[in-house]
Amino acid sequence: MRKKVTKAIFPVAGLGTRFLPATKSVPKEIMTLVDRPLVQYAIDEARAAGIKEFIFVTSRGKSALEDYFDHSPILENELRRKGKKDLLDVLKSTNMDSGAIAYIRQHKALGLGHAVWCARRLIGNEPFAVILPDDVIAAETPCLQQMVEAYAETGGNMVAAMEVPPERASAYGVLDVKEDMGSIVSVNGMVEKPKKEEAPSNLAVIGRYILAPSVLNNLNKMKTGAGGEIQLTDAIAADIGSESGVYGYRFRGQRFDCGSKSGFLQATVAFALARDDLRDDLSAYLRDIVQMDKAAE
Ligand code: G1P
Repeated sequence: MRKKVTKAIFPVAGLGTRFLPATKSVPKEIMTLVDRPLVQYAIDEARAAGIKEFIFVTSRGKSALEDYFDHSPILENELRRKGKKDLLDVLKSTNMDSGAIAYIRQHKALGLGHAVWCARRLIGNEPFAVILPDDVIAAETPCLQQMVEAYAETGGNMVAAMEVPPERASAYGVLDVKEDMGSIVSVNGMVEKPKKEEAPSNLAVIGRYILAPSVLNNLNKMKTGAGGEIQLTDAIAADIGSESGVYGYRFRGQRFDCGSKSGFLQATVAFALARDDLRDDLSAYLRDIVQMDKAAE
């Protein structure tokens, strides 16, 4: 029997400089899509996939993130007193069990691989998930849940994958496909941020991973890679040809790159349009401005 994946690492140590000046005082992961912080989407997805232990790799200046996951008795009492049950339910859905969350600091910004390695002692010798909260995925079945189901067949290491326009491949980890089985592909090689002419394909790694503990051992020995950083992609690639092997998983869903302003805005619109309380107003507004744009042409 394969071991269940019950632990997930959330690397959230980045400075979020693309969102300055907001990120001077607000961690990027707390910025809201509609009315929920980015990180809440990641937590909900992890929970749906059966994750029980949530490990955040943080850095200085992220205390708002830790506060966010605390219970808030004053607020809860006030809402109870006023009989605002709906809002109480919203709050309760964000509460985490005592001891379910751990925070580890990444003391130096040495890259994603290093951030994951910082959590090694909390993982031990079992498979684990990694979720990059910047990648928000709207899907009927949450992406990590889809992967857990696919992983039950493959084992090894699994990365979420998506076709991107070839000229964009150099912004991602890119897969060299050995065998394409539809939603699952087996992988011959992985390159982090390849030069345009060196990309092995346009199948890009998206920020969801299910990894074997051997990847943590690989990270022990990892040297700096693309961008002078210790890359998770390289540590996963080091498992290719080993007992574990590496698979890509083409998920069903729409991915938004909330690490970029335009991706963040698109996600905001998409998530707002999916909400019964906002859809009508927002779509009327969007129709209006599109018409105004056309009229001006
Ligand atoms: C990270 C990974 C990269 C992956 C990307 C997905 O890069 O290193 O392999 O394709 O996330 O969003 P980053 O975007 O943090 O530079």
